[in-house]
Amino acid sequence: MPSPAQTPERFTATAAAATFAEQWDVRLPVVNAPMGGVAGGRLAAAVTAGGGFGMIGMGSAGSAMALRRELRFTAATEGRFGIGMVDWVAAADPEMFEVALAAAPALLTVGFGTDLTWARRAASAGIRTAAQVYTRDDARRAEDSGIDIVVARGAEGGGHGSTAMAMLPLLDAVLDAVSVPVLAAGGIGTPASMAAVLAAGASGVWLGTRLAASAESLLPEAARRALIAATGADTVATTIFDTALELPWPERFPSRVLRNEVTRDWSDRAAYLRTDPESRTRIADRVRAGDPTAVPVDAGQGVGAVTAVEPAAQIIGDLSRAAAQLLTRPQP
Ligand SMILES: Cc1cc2nc3c(=O)[nH]c(=O)nc-3n(C[C@H](O)[C@H](O)[C@H](O)COP(=O)(O)O)c2cc1C
Repeated sequence: MPSPAQTPERFTATAAAATFAEQWDVRLPVVNAPMGGVAGGRLAAAVTAGGGFGMIGMGSAGSAMALRRELRFTAATEGRFGIGMVDWVAAADPEMFEVALAAAPALLTVGFGTDLTWARRAASAGIRTAAQVYTRDDARRAEDSGIDIVVARGAEGGGHGSTAMAMLPLLDAVLDAVSVPVLAAGGIGTPASMAAVLAAGASGVWLGTRLAASAESLLPEAARRALIAATGADTVATTIFDTALELPWPERFPSRVLRNEVTRDWSDRAAYLRTDPESRTRIADRVRAGDPTAVPVDAGQGVGAVTAVEPAAQIIGDLSRAAAQLLTRPQP
């Protein structure tokens, strides 16, 4: 019997997912979130090889040089990979966007900004685009700007993102508002959660945390162990690390991380931290020194589904197969 990761059939359990899989020439309706410092070229290539759609993430520490380094791993994908960047990081290193265009990915996203003109540049280079959205208005704006895939990203999600709406009410509103394919993101880690968003009408899932501890991710060992040990109640959305590290993330986008000593001491005092340079320096020093009680580990509320280090192909194969079973099981 072939292993689930190698199951050759295309996912057909819902009409929207089957259409998405056909249009994007993937077997599984799974896109890996472009996770900065975690989703490098190896993870992107492994997700594509496993039947999904792999993406490289350039986060706060992204650069043209880092992107070139990760692109070396994508040759085997034959162009079936994407690149995700952060608006203010791309603005500080404009060469990164040029490197991304020149790499001719199938999908590009520049997140966390207000200006979507990058999408026109991508489109004129023949590259399709995605945007994470957090409200119905965001979704409409993205569609009006010519974005090809809208990602409804709920408050449960790991890493940076708005906490304005939980994923299911957001997904409902976004599906109602746009006609482009909608992927669901935030807290999805189990077959039941994947089946739920596909049953609601999503064309696929945009998975972050579930793939963060995969064998091919760039995540350091200590953070991998922390993800495996955590449950869904162990996360908090906070701005304190960005404040302490003086990263210009818009306040609208806190990051959801595993709770640690710093979040325990400061998450209720985020406004005060902005007025207290000494405490900011102390936190930043601990983070930069790699203090495991201080380093933020991005994680969504689906982190309880991360129980082992597994190859990405196995994760997305098992998840999709079990979700399809839930969606197609005979009714009693
Ligand atoms: C470790 C990690 C790093 C992330 N880095 C980025 C990033 O650099 N750019 C981005 O657009 N989103 C980033 N995200 C957010 C994801 O795109 C996505 O919204 C989120 O992972 C979905 O929720 P989930 O983690 O519960 O699956 C990151 C998420 C995680 C978990």
